[in-house]
Amino acid sequence: MIDRIKALESKATALEPERNHITTLTTTYAEKHLASIYNTKAYFSEDPGGKSFLDHPIGEEGTNIEELLSIIHEEVDEAGINAAAHGHLGYIPGGGLYASALGDYLAAVTNNYAGIFFASPGAVRLENQLITWMAEMVGYQAGYAGNLSSGGSIANLTAVVTARDAHELKSADIPKAVIYCTHQMHHCLLKAIRIAGLKEAHLREIPQDNRHRMVPETLKAQIEKDKAEGLNPWLVIASAGTTDVGAVDPLEEVGQVAKSYNCWYHIDAAYGGFFMLLDEKKHLFRGAALSDSIVLDPHKGLFLPFGTGALLVRNKQHLLDSHFYMANYLQDVHTPDAELSPADLSPELTKHFRGLRMWLPLKLHGLGPFKAALEEKLALCEYFYTKIQEIPNIEVGPEPELSVCYFRYLPENGDSNTFNQQLLNLIHQDGRVFMSSTTLDNKFLIRAAVLSFRTHLASIDLALDIIKTNIEKLKKSEVPTSP
Ligand SMILES: Cc1ncc(COP(=O)(O)O)c(C=O)c1O
Repeated sequence: MIDRIKALESKATALEPERNHITTLTTTYAEKHLASIYNTKAYFSEDPGGKSFLDHPIGEEGTNIEELLSIIHEEVDEAGINAAAHGHLGYIPGGGLYASALGDYLAAVTNNYAGIFFASPGAVRLENQLITWMAEMVGYQAGYAGNLSSGGSIANLTAVVTARDAHELKSADIPKAVIYCTHQMHHCLLKAIRIAGLKEAHLREIPQDNRHRMVPETLKAQIEKDKAEGLNPWLVIASAGTTDVGAVDPLEEVGQVAKSYNCWYHIDAAYGGFFMLLDEKKHLFRGAALSDSIVLDPHKGLFLPFGTGALLVRNKQHLLDSHFYMANYLQDVHTPDAELSPADLSPELTKHFRGLRMWLPLKLHGLGPFKAALEEKLALCEYFYTKIQEIPNIEVGPEPELSVCYFRYLPENGDSNTFNQQLLNLIHQDGRVFMSSTTLDNKFLIRAAVLSFRTHLASIDLALDIIKTNIEKLKKSEVPTSP
């Protein structure tokens, strides 16, 4: 028995390797990646990548780090969207702050258990400090609670479940419950509604004004109508920065309507939320404190690498009611002096110590550079919006409220949707910047979403140049009349 254990121990010690070599090679790889980040493409259209993983199955024996880094380089880092690139102007661009990577490194090396106060009071207090900072920014009074999630989708799902339980919706009540939103609401909320078992609830898409914002008077009229029909107006969801066009619903007016009908008021501020830090945009977020729950995404507006969203709930009891559980084997962890623990406020028990990747850059750099970067993104979007209109035959949407805008080219001949799809294809083929598209009223539109902390004036000038060049190229070719 002892001999067997010792033999196994000897083999298993490979899991505690000599660190110098692998650390040096890994950090050298990361440095090389970052050293060329302003010159590498934002999109690699040529090769779908990842194909050779089949040639490298997981096996009994290990592989040397040199080979593994080379696989990562070829199959992952140079395939698809380069989400850390300055030229990433598609969807909602991600960040990738280096200080966050260091936070993740320390979180993984120490493996602090951030789920329960008893297990790591420091880690939980650190996360709670971040929740407090965001809640105060939103304007919540004492009594709130929140949670750092893996992203906006999970944070929104947690909010929908909390709203369902707070209004004590049981399965028999669902067919009468009504949810209000606009067509611009992010689809992760539709997913959340389905996952939360609420598919049978009525979904009312409230019409938008000409800037894609919810019209509060129409919301009120629809709620009145639903009440008159014996339905149960339950949940109003506003967006503070829609993904498609960056629109911010009139949060205060919508909130007042929601409150006056006793609806749960949720705001999805996953994209736009951190613009609240800027004095010049504070007016857009007036009324955020009326919400019962709000989602912000630090991996968007605080430029963190993917993997951090945040949910805040105005009355902590509601979040606890939906998520607090006891287990016999955890009977020691609930001590009277404990602070609120993430495990009691979310579906997760064991979780990544994701607070560190947010706390470290905020503390290391201070808020100043974050605010400057956010203000710069607003200015860059405004600049793009102005400059793109200097190209003849360009049609733009409304002036950007935040850092997303859209445009399309109206060709003299041929189908506009086909032309703009082809224009986007050429932008992708070039790859130095990455843009994405959307469809509004059957119009194919190209979006410019400015949120990467690495996007600066040169990136926007480059994008404008690529767009101009490719419009000229397409004008010389025959554009078919249908896609
Ligand atoms: C407005 C909005 N809400 C929610 C989400 C979903 O967040 P995540 O991708 O972090 O899950 C997004 C993502 O782009 C978003 O833009």
